[in-house]
Amino acid sequence: MLRVVVMVSGGGTNLQAIIDRVADGTITNTELAAVISNNYGVKALERAERAGIPAVTVSPKDYGDRSAFEQALLAAVDSYQPDLIVLAGFLVVIPAAMIDRYENRIINIHPSLIPSFCGTGYYGLKVHEAALARGVKVVGATVHFVDKGTDTGPILLQKAVEVEPGDTPKILQQRVMEQAEWKLLPQAIDLIANGKVMVADGHAVIRE
Ligand code: GAR
Repeated sequence: MLRVVVMVSGGGTNLQAIIDRVADGTITNTELAAVISNNYGVKALERAERAGIPAVTVSPKDYGDRSAFEQALLAAVDSYQPDLIVLAGFLVVIPAAMIDRYENRIINIHPSLIPSFCGTGYYGLKVHEAALARGVKVVGATVHFVDKGTDTGPILLQKAVEVEPGDTPKILQQRVMEQAEWKLLPQAIDLIANGKVMVADGHAVIRE
């Protein structure tokens, strides 16, 4: 069984998709060991508790400086001994020490087709605002492994979504979640849990 720790910051709809796909057997060979949030009181924590998954908050507000927060975050992750860390709307820069310790064992969902609309400053609704401002006709989502850059790690899965007339950032965000994110992230976990993903030379390869 692949032990998975899911890291969240807010609403947790991607977390919910993972919980639901484990429950209905779409994701196999996977145990959700814990959910870790950097924010108290967010809906993602409720979703974890409702599913009976241990949920903890490590907030930067509780620590004097960044390095103390990062140490606490890493200690919380380590305590669950994960095989895979899933960033499901986790809007914190991952400490370098965590990336070293869990090389090729951290994946992230980003709400664009990387390398478009990604990198520093592109997160959440801002991604969709930028896509609409640029007038692109196709957007989407990407699951990638996390390296020390921002959204620069090996790409595992991508799915395109059409922009439609009258889209607002919120409408577009919802469509990208429904048509891409909530499918891709569970699919990525299932592939990894079943030994179908290899990472080498900066590329992720799926073996059938
Ligand atoms: C999702 O759209 C996710 O792709 C995005 O935050 C949202 C979280 O929603 N992540 C990023 O922008 C990372 N750079 P959720 O809490 O409902 O899953």
